[in-house]
Amino acid sequence: MNLKNVLGMDIGGSGIKAAPVNVKTGKLLDEKYRIPTPDKSTPEALAAVIVQHVKHFKWKGAIGCGFPAVVQNGVVCTAANIDSSWIGTNGNKLFSKATGLPVWLLNDADAAGLAEIKLGAGAGFKGAILVVTVGTGIGSALFVKGRLYPNSELGHIFLKGQQKDAEYTASDAARKRDDLSWDSWGERFNAYLTTMENLFWPELIIIGGGVSKKMDKFRHQLKLRAKVEPALLLNEAGIVGAAIAARVYLKNLLNG
Ligand code: BGC
Repeated sequence: MNLKNVLGMDIGGSGIKAAPVNVKTGKLLDEKYRIPTPDKSTPEALAAVIVQHVKHFKWKGAIGCGFPAVVQNGVVCTAANIDSSWIGTNGNKLFSKATGLPVWLLNDADAAGLAEIKLGAGAGFKGAILVVTVGTGIGSALFVKGRLYPNSELGHIFLKGQQKDAEYTASDAARKRDDLSWDSWGERFNAYLTTMENLFWPELIIIGGGVSKKMDKFRHQLKLRAKVEPALLLNEAGIVGAAIAARVYLKNLLNG
């Protein structure tokens, strides 16, 4: 199977976006298509959406899927922002069976991070990098010398004096829920990143997810030692990274 072009997908709390990607250049080969995430995001409901995407693009090749949970070799292990019936489900097998195509699943922030390390704001940077994606939840990806430490779940850390996961107060969903100005949300986000910085000491922090397009509205609130950059691929990083990861992992599986 030709793995030069892969259908990249980004499964999020509010929408499931997809586009065919040229894996070498990271360019989208067609307009991105978005289907709202079903209210009850069970394995069956999401498999039906993946099939809709395959039909929309008349896709016959490999698929890479960024998924908002810990994913180990295709098996979903957590479910903070999706239906809890996902836990223990092998997403690779489920989506492959539903579409008849090879599918590779990985954590959504890891996917976005991979795209940024290969083709975006982290390209060529050999030091310690923290990628933070901000949407319904907060996702994280850690890299050193361009290599990923997978499934870090740093949106679930408790900030000093708080009784809930950091993503409950500092995600984009929290900004909307609490009707915060970008200024006030920026303060919360800075508190979150400061804690991350004091624990992990990254040299570069890359901000992905929907808020990456709005950096000019809150950048002035970020008072950090590390260099801070928005994801160069903006909100498309998840789609592109999922396609890149699928090529790497499926190449071995399909040829092995
Ligand atoms: C999940 C992570 C995910 C992040 C962003 C969190 O709630 O636990 O796995 O990367 O949301 O979607």
